[in-house]
Amino acid sequence: MTAAAVRLAGLCLHYTLQGGGRAGQRIDVLRGVDLDIAPGDSVAIVGPSGSGKTSLLLLLSGLERPAAGEVLLAGQALGAMDADALADLRRDRIGIVFQSFHLLPSLSALDNVALPLQMAGHRDAHARATTLLQRVGLGARLHQLPATLSGGEQQRVAIARALVHRPQLLLADEPTGNLDDATGETIRDLLFEMNREAGTTLVLVTHDMAFARRCSRVLRLHEGLLHEGPPQQGPGDDRSRELPAKNPPQRPPGQRPGDAFPA
Ligand SMILES: Nc1ncnc2c1ncn2[C@@H]1O[C@H](COP(=O)(O)OP(=O)(O)OP(=O)(O)O)[C@@H](O)[C@H]1O
Ligand SMILES: [Mg+2]
Repeated sequence: MTAAAVRLAGLCLHYTLQGGGRAGQRIDVLRGVDLDIAPGDSVAIVGPSGSGKTSLLLLLSGLERPAAGEVLLAGQALGAMDADALADLRRDRIGIVFQSFHLLPSLSALDNVALPLQMAGHRDAHARATTLLQRVGLGARLHQLPATLSGGEQQRVAIARALVHRPQLLLADEPTGNLDDATGETIRDLLFEMNREAGTTLVLVTHDMAFARRCSRVLRLHEGLLHEGPPQQGPGDDRSRELPAKNPPQRPPGQRPGDAFPA
């Protein structure tokens, strides 16, 4: 049986405040989250500001360690891995779009995107990075530093960097939050295209319910627990029962994951 792309078991996270009048106070962010995500699935995580969505993605990427519980990616327990092994895992198999981008300020857009491929020894890193930056509409911005790009342009560089190595798992935190409608739609289409054609499992955090509904599952984070289905909209509107599957994982027969996604 194929292992789940993501398995969370009893995941707990709390922060202890460091300074100020509330020093030492504990904030319980996740209180025992269980979740299985099938390979190639697309999952949206929604929830109010401060509910723990970014924290959950940090745990999924091994950038944060849980207080209790386990994260398994493709059957591999992150808790058993040291920092170097986790860095290798992220480089090879995970794409991350951070809410605050985290671009390297001294590198051009092109070098920011090419770097993960170069680190993995790909000789065609610049060609692949150029193709992907053109796909996100930044073909004329390749050699600019992040500080000279608009917020939405920086976001698109961050998305290209997360996709360029065709990851098995994409973790994206509000990936189109800074984009106008048309550009946002182009980027959302690109994410779902990668999901269909490269078999990439998508875990997307968003406040945009229309975006969330393009995923095959919508999960909402509330008071430290994950619930299946989007928030109820009102009486008689139980959307948790109509989980849409507009973009189910589909791959033509004989096609390997990653064959079609732009190299
Ligand atoms: N390093 C930290 N130290 C203390 N508290 C933290 C820390 N990081 C996050 N928190 C708290 O944990 C809670 C969850 O934060 P998180 O960033 O995961 O929320 P979020 O759901 O991503 O919110 P948003 O939609 O605004 O991005 C918040 O109350 C936040 O203040
Ligand atoms: Mg957040």
